[in-house]
Amino acid sequence: MKAVGYREPLPISDPQSLLDLEAPTPQAEGRDLLVEVKAISVNPVDVKVRASVKPGKEGYKILGWDAAGVVKETGSGVSFFKPGDEVYYAGSIARAGTDAEFHLVDERIVGGKPKTLNFAQAAAMPLTTITAWELLFDRLHVPRGKEPVGTLLIMGGAGGVGSILTQLARKLTGLTIISTASTPESQKWCLDLGAHSVINHYQPLAPQLIAIGFSQVDYIASLTGTQGHYPALVEILAPESRLGIIDDPASLDATLLKSKCASLHWEYMFARSFFSTPDMVAQHEILNEAAALVDAGVLRTTLAKSMGTINAAHLKEAHALLESGRARGKLVLEGF
Ligand SMILES: NC(=O)c1ccc[n+]([C@@H]2O[C@H](COP(=O)([O-])OP(=O)(O)OC[C@H]3O[C@@H](n4cnc5c(N)ncnc54)[C@H](OP(=O)(O)O)[C@@H]3O)[C@@H](O)[C@H]2O)c1
Repeated sequence: MKAVGYREPLPISDPQSLLDLEAPTPQAEGRDLLVEVKAISVNPVDVKVRASVKPGKEGYKILGWDAAGVVKETGSGVSFFKPGDEVYYAGSIARAGTDAEFHLVDERIVGGKPKTLNFAQAAAMPLTTITAWELLFDRLHVPRGKEPVGTLLIMGGAGGVGSILTQLARKLTGLTIISTASTPESQKWCLDLGAHSVINHYQPLAPQLIAIGFSQVDYIASLTGTQGHYPALVEILAPESRLGIIDDPASLDATLLKSKCASLHWEYMFARSFFSTPDMVAQHEILNEAAALVDAGVLRTTLAKSMGTINAAHLKEAHALLESGRARGKLVLEGF
């Protein structure tokens, strides 16, 4: 089968950084589905793995942690899906990625594809939807319902995760949402997705908040640039508030949160599948519920840009765009 990956970690400017590969087609066993991949999306994790992780004994590593496709085969332990079902999912960081014609994934982290979306629109969603959902409800414990429950500041609101987090927070909770974005295009994107206000993450945060009528916030979702923003985030957190983080700060001083009795919450969407936690089926349920919300017109796809067919040349362009830090919504590739 065709696949895209790499043989050694290299900068994206290197011609060998991503390669078109031929790999053996895998077979489904146990609770695995063999999925014929129709579309994929690209996430910062692809960039980070490509730049730093050495391939294993195969001598190459297939990237990709977002796909929409059709179930071709099922393992003997599969009970949620059958051949022919249309699915969408992110997969596991511990296994080969989705940038391949055929892909194996445990059914417990797979959802039925939203019926009203095509494969490209659906492929934009899974990894970021699981991340945003787990962050909002499982880590920050924001109550569902339309009762007012305070303010949420989303740092990096126009990115892949922010684009779905904004919708979930606006449609499923009573939060007042303040997003950060730095360009007219990304600011408009945040407002269109449901943010009540937008401020700029490259300007001091506290005075911008005061200018829109808030001295502090009750929840922060720090999606990008946490290391640099951390002192400013501590400053604007309200007493007894919650700070959620998903990116990779080198080190954070948790003691700065003590005087406000503020709590720190990590979200890592690969944790459930990596550790095969007893509740890993929660990701199947999240994706199914998100699909139902899409089909009901509550949520919309976060696809912002189609990057062409699935091959190394197009994926290099997508990686370079993500590395610029200026991506809006999701980048998707479709067909081989
Ligand atoms: N822990 C997990 O489970 C998990 C899951 C998904 C992603 N992540 C990580 O979370 C991070 C965000 O992911 P993503 O998919 O949303 O990324 P993304 O789509 O690449 O984010 C791009 C956005 O980041 C904003 N941005 C750039 N520099 C910023 C800064 N210094 N401060 C605040 N915002 C900034 C940009 O806004 P402007 O263009 O408006 O400047 C742009 O809209 C990545 O590091 C990713 O690896 C972790």
